[in-house]
Amino acid sequence: MAELSRIVGSVFAVLCAYLFYHYLEQQITRRQWTKRHGCADPPKYPHRDPIGLDLFVSNIRNAKHFRMLEGWKERWQKYGTTFSGMSMGVRNVYTVDPLNLQSVHALNFSNYGVQPIRRDATLPFLGEGVFTMDGPFWDHSRALIRPTFTRTNVANLPAFEVNFQKFLNLLPKDGETVDLKPLFYRLFLDTSSEFLFGESVNALSEKTPFKTKEFLDAFHYAQRGMGVRIQMRKFKFLFRDKKWWEAIKISHDFAYTYVDKALEFRKRYLESKNSGKKSLSEDDDRHPYVLLHEMAKETDDRDNLRSQIIHIFIAGHDSTAITVGHVFFHLCRNPEVYEKLHAEVKALDEELTFESLKSMRYLQYAIKETLRLHPVTPLDGRIAYQDTMLPTGGGPNGDSPIFVPKGSLVTTSLHALHRLAPCFQPDPDTFRPERWETVRPGWSYLPFFGGPRICPGR
Ligand code: HEM
Ligand SMILES: *[C@@H]1O[C@H](CO)[C@@H](O)[C@H](O)[C@H]1NC(C)=O
Repeated sequence: MAELSRIVGSVFAVLCAYLFYHYLEQQITRRQWTKRHGCADPPKYPHRDPIGLDLFVSNIRNAKHFRMLEGWKERWQKYGTTFSGMSMGVRNVYTVDPLNLQSVHALNFSNYGVQPIRRDATLPFLGEGVFTMDGPFWDHSRALIRPTFTRTNVANLPAFEVNFQKFLNLLPKDGETVDLKPLFYRLFLDTSSEFLFGESVNALSEKTPFKTKEFLDAFHYAQRGMGVRIQMRKFKFLFRDKKWWEAIKISHDFAYTYVDKALEFRKRYLESKNSGKKSLSEDDDRHPYVLLHEMAKETDDRDNLRSQIIHIFIAGHDSTAITVGHVFFHLCRNPEVYEKLHAEVKALDEELTFESLKSMRYLQYAIKETLRLHPVTPLDGRIAYQDTMLPTGGGPNGDSPIFVPKGSLVTTSLHALHRLAPCFQPDPDTFRPERWETVRPGWSYLPFFGGPRICPGR
């Protein structure tokens, strides 16, 4: 007995010594680092508890009143463009400084990643794919979807036109007020399903068997749950919502329908390939390239295909429907902008092509301005994979570099960045497409972020 307690005692002592040594070494490395690079601390958020529960509660409360993003913006106004704090037990640097964003997303890209917080919070719904992974798996996923975004695929205007005409037919012709949002959702459900799965879900058709509302409700519920779980960080085990798992099942079943068809396609593809016939003409002329079919050539892993396609499907239908919705939100409230845009569109006397779309300057400005005010990824973060530093925001003048210990988050808000940056003053909250005639914002405007992980669908 005495023997045992002596052993336990020594093991404990060695462990303590080790932990202390480890702690000391870390402190010394960090102090040296800080000294060598002239790092200094940024302002601290005045938490009332050690893990930052107060910030979480305040975000949830703001979200209930649809002002979570404004709440974030006010914090940067109050504490400076870069400050530090805790979010549910995780150290955090909150920054809307363009230099720091450029460091995280481009110059020091390899020092940061999205795992484990984003991955763990979203895995039950998204699975492994381009949003949730870092390193070689991310590289691979990115390569898999790259061909989707060639010019010929993106500028497939005849395919879009068919759906667009159906959309127009659903608008009232007598000037009656119409809620465009659900119609935009249906439009982009059809275009993105066609583009990604090779067949439309036909949400715009009157007699479709597709239960659009049920599907969108489930899909959006699943997305909202991911958002809450990300905010909860390490405490997401407290997230208990049966409805969330049901919503995930509906979404997955939807994806499996198309995955199974793609696996049949794979069978035919391999047969024709093995029999030496010239390669199967896979898809009809309207769709020379179907993402899910291309992915099914590479793998027959049903779950992996489901994950990859759900990733792109979220990105493809949601961000577009929301952005076009916001464009019209502002056009309705700014008749002079609408008139100017209308004139530009009417003046175009050639066929609509990728090039002619790009040549419409005012149209570009209006969309840019919409994405400035309503970036679809308004809050986002990256985790430091190793001890590193941000170029600015520390010290009394706020211009010293900041030491960023391994495991901390760097969080930003594009909503705040796009309204606080000096280049958008003095009227940052005004919808004014004309500002784009002169403004050159660089890293102060990032609706698609930047660097290697920039949105491929931009
Ligand atoms: C208005 C439209 C869009 C906006 C504003 C937008 C914005 C963004 C942003 C900000 C990110 C970075 C998120 C992050 O890494 O944390 C992103 C990533 C991504 N977007 Fe988009 N997006 C749009 C449309 C699309 C479309 C139409 C597609 C595909 C059909 C798409 C596919 C993706 C993919 C696959 C990623 C992940 C990239 C990666 O992590 O490597 N996006 N998008
Ligand atoms: C990138 O990080 C390294 C340390 O990991 C640091 O020395 C360097 O200054 C950083 N560069 C930028 C632009 O932040």
